[in-house]
Amino acid sequence: MSLVQCPDCEKLYAELDQHIDSVKDNMGVLINVLHKAQEIFGYLSEEVQQHVSERLNLPLSQVYGVVTFYNFFTMKPKGRHQIKVCLGTACYVKGADKIVERLQDELKVPMNEPTPDGEFSIHAVRCLGACSMAPVVLIGEDDYYGRVTPDEVSKIIAKYRRAE
Ligand code: FES
Repeated sequence: MSLVQCPDCEKLYAELDQHIDSVKDNMGVLINVLHKAQEIFGYLSEEVQQHVSERLNLPLSQVYGVVTFYNFFTMKPKGRHQIKVCLGTACYVKGADKIVERLQDELKVPMNEPTPDGEFSIHAVRCLGACSMAPVVLIGEDDYYGRVTPDEVSKIIAKYRRAE
């Protein structure tokens, strides 16, 4: 594709590039700072977003836009123990929805909300790469439970309660 020639082309492209660079840098810094904020606070509340917006001198709408665009950012607090239930196809056909129901009954919270004591939250995830063990539950980053039945749910949760 040939570029349209114009009398001030060089100057105009320089201006555009300057703008692209400034936007690129802002986005990079913003995403980096939001990652750090989420690591520190656990989630990105309105107050934290406001703080980031003021410190980076960016409009709050831009911060909010980035937070809502990327699904690794969350605006809701999570439990200290995050219980991830795989709802991928293999797990679903093996009854993962029944595991979710039992977890909600036991903990008395909807999905993605922390228990009142802040200890647990339940999240749906896609394939965890352990389909032969379906249905699979992951607690925290490393504790995998395979071929989970609804009746095992309370025993699994109790392990984390006892670990206090
Ligand atoms: S579908 Fe659940 S681990 Fe693959």
